[in-house]
Amino acid sequence: MAKNKTILRALAGEVLDTPPIWMMRQAGRYLPEYRATRAQAGDFLSLCYNPELAAEVTLQPIRRYGFDAAILFADILLLPQALGADLWFVTGEGPRLSTIETQADFDKLKPVDEIDEVLNPIYETVRILKGELPSETTLIGFAGAPWTVATYMIAGRGTKDQGPAHALKAENRALFEQIIDILTTGTIEYLSKQVEAGAEVVKIFDSWAGSLTGEDFDRYCLEPAKKITGEMKKRFPGLPVIAFPREAGDRYIGFHKATGADCVAIDDSVTAEWAAANVQVDGCVQGNLKSSHMVTGGQNLVDETRRIVKALSKGPHIFNLGHGITPDADPDNVQLMIDTVRETATR
Ligand code: CP3
Repeated sequence: MAKNKTILRALAGEVLDTPPIWMMRQAGRYLPEYRATRAQAGDFLSLCYNPELAAEVTLQPIRRYGFDAAILFADILLLPQALGADLWFVTGEGPRLSTIETQADFDKLKPVDEIDEVLNPIYETVRILKGELPSETTLIGFAGAPWTVATYMIAGRGTKDQGPAHALKAENRALFEQIIDILTTGTIEYLSKQVEAGAEVVKIFDSWAGSLTGEDFDRYCLEPAKKITGEMKKRFPGLPVIAFPREAGDRYIGFHKATGADCVAIDDSVTAEWAAANVQVDGCVQGNLKSSHMVTGGQNLVDETRRIVKALSKGPHIFNLGHGITPDADPDNVQLMIDTVRETATR
């Protein structure tokens, strides 16, 4: 039965007449019903840790649009919090964490086998979703990739160029690698619990992969993705994995083979035509409409959507944005995107 789910079919390599659709950050502030539930929860983190309300916001975009996948509502920074980092969100600015600058800061972290004390409510959200999602909807679990999560743990916030993480890597590589290692192990445990609770696919978000170059890309993006994917597939044979090494550029080429991921998600800095010729040859791709079309809409949205569907129609494809939808998006433009994808005959 599970194999009737279009997302699982695309992930298994099947070329469908119409690509299945979901959207990064599909549960979010552009939806009035999300803003209402978040207000009820109090704030973003309270929403993440409230299984009933987190399940509710996960379901909202499914009810409104009938997306083919639901993504668990949580955040990539909950794992560092579970490892003992302080975490809070500053309205209008983004996340703040306690920083890791020295070995002593690192040594204060908790061992990986204690993360569930904090993360148990997240697994409960997954269990609730398992019972409530329509039978055709695939449930995606996720975690941040070690490099991306490390950039936040080291700097204590989001940074444009990931400068503090690059500096620590240059100045104290042994400490930097301990952070990557604990996050790799922690991510495997966190994702395993999500799968045991009912997640059918897992996605690894490496939002800052594009700032790693050369050998650093191999060691801190590719290698952890390969370890996590390999171990997840060993524990859960047949589990599909989506990797998102955002802004990897040329390094998208060969990423499926190098990591074992079933699907590589592509951002909007590469064209769908380029991805078809260079990345889709190795397996499923997901992407890659510019999020700003969800704000501006109109004929440009329709034309770009059609172009992507056509360019990627010869191989397995999951339609998505190139990055998360933004709070200023118009919910009607999301419907226009979905209608356009479904109306664009690909064969
Ligand atoms: O995609 C989904 O709908 C699932 C839920 C999800 C969230 N964050 C919810 C969220 C997922 C998969 C993430 C991933 C995430 N979180 C990433 C990787 C993907 C990416 O966007 O590059 C990163 C880097 C984070 C860290 C993070 N969380 C930041 C930088 C911010 C603040 C930026 C912002 O948009 O305000 C968040 C907050 C956050 N995570 C929100 C949501 C819906 C907005 C919080 C709110 O409601 O105020």
